[in-house]
Amino acid sequence: MNKVLISYQSFTGSCKALAEAAAKGVSEAGGQAEVKNVAETSSADFAGRQAFILVTTQPFQSLAGETKTFFERLWGQREKIESGLQFAAVICHVNDAASTEANLDMFAKYFGWKKFGSWVEVSPKEAEAGKEAVRKLGIAVAQGG
Ligand SMILES: Cc1cc2nc3c(=O)[nH]c(=O)nc-3n(C[C@H](O)[C@H](O)[C@H](O)COP(=O)(O)O)c2cc1C
Repeated sequence: MNKVLISYQSFTGSCKALAEAAAKGVSEAGGQAEVKNVAETSSADFAGRQAFILVTTQPFQSLAGETKTFFERLWGQREKIESGLQFAAVICHVNDAASTEANLDMFAKYFGWKKFGSWVEVSPKEAEAGKEAVRKLGIAVAQGG
């Protein structure tokens, strides 16, 4: 089973709750999950991890600021991270998420990470359905797809 790092950026708690739901799925599948705020996540947190789940929001129709800063900080440390890392992401949003999706595709490409299926999209208005979808994502990621 995979060891999974889960990082989130959250203003009002939805993404944090989704990150915790993903961790629940990972644990149910027999994997190990660590949940961190993206602002407190560094390359050291990737040590021994086969997979990474990012849960992020979409303020002002663009990639959330701390999430972008996280990738900028990580860039200089990227050689410390497995290049074949499985990368899943959850976007919690209310309007079109095309811009954030495109950014996540770019990060997967630049860092040489393996995109895990499609990015998962969740509405904060459908919190319970979102948590269930993300719990299932956690199970799949723990199992390696
Ligand atoms: C300052 C701010 C601006 C936002 N602008 C957008 C937006 O342009 N498009 C969008 O889809 N959601 C927008 N949202 C809504 C967030 O997507 C939604 O509130 C968020 O996903 C909830 O996650 P959180 O509780 O983890 O913060 C905005 C939220 C905040 C706080």
